[in-house]
Amino acid sequence: MTSEPILSVDGVAKTFLLHLRGGARLPVVSGAAFELRPGECVALGGPSGAGKSSLLKMVYGNYRIDSGTIRVRGDGDFVDVASADPRRLLRLRASTMGYVSQFLRVIPRVSTLEVVAEPLVGDGVAREQALERAGALLAWLNLPERLWPLPPATFSGGEQQRVNIARGLIAHRPLLLMDEPTASLDAANSRVVVELIGEKKRAGVAILGIFHDAQVRETVCDRVIDVTEFAKAA
Ligand SMILES: Nc1ncnc2c1ncn2[C@@H]1O[C@H](COP(=O)(O)OP(=O)(O)OP(=O)(O)O)[C@@H](O)[C@H]1O
Ligand SMILES: [Mg+2]
Repeated sequence: MTSEPILSVDGVAKTFLLHLRGGARLPVVSGAAFELRPGECVALGGPSGAGKSSLLKMVYGNYRIDSGTIRVRGDGDFVDVASADPRRLLRLRASTMGYVSQFLRVIPRVSTLEVVAEPLVGDGVAREQALERAGALLAWLNLPERLWPLPPATFSGGEQQRVNIARGLIAHRPLLLMDEPTASLDAANSRVVVELIGEKKRAGVAILGIFHDAQVRETVCDRVIDVTEFAKAA
């Protein structure tokens, strides 16, 4: 692949300071460096506690880093997530970065259909059209239509995860971060997510994710970055 990277991580180090444990220090990564190009799907690998989710949160700008740069190409130029001011970071997320967390953060009293359609409405798509596309995506993910008018608060783990995936994938974002998107899904629904990820890749979206399911990982990912390499140095 010869295209310019959309994500460029260089020399990233982070140590958690545990205030409740007398200021104990927990180094998580050091010297983390990698790049991601459009249309690539890259997995963060390594055992539980290696720092995979933390690294994903650093890229999204949810965790501060101690040193290094995390550059994302968005709105025409590179933005360093680590040093961007909060408003610039929010703009970069809105235009460029999607994040599918492991669990849905439920908004009380808002219907599933609205929850899923919201990112499109935020992009300026007409409400009716956004709701229609939300329904199509939920149908693809086998979420029964009788659930669409209900808030997802009482849904099963797998149902909530599918709502979360639909919300995370409905709008076009050139860089997608996914934390175990198939963890609570059965084989049939995992296959749908694999298809959705394939479609994103063909559209040129770059995906950085954590995929515990080896079969899913081997199907969608072009390579694996072993996070323990960064932890060793930490
Ligand atoms: N906000 C935080 N404050 C303090 N320590 C944290 C914080 N977030 C993560 N950690 C610690 O950093 C280490 C890495 O956690 P992380 O969640 O990134 O691991 P992971 O590789 O995603 O593991 P898993 O596969 O179990 O999800 C763990 O020891 C964890 O306890
Ligand atoms: Mg994790």
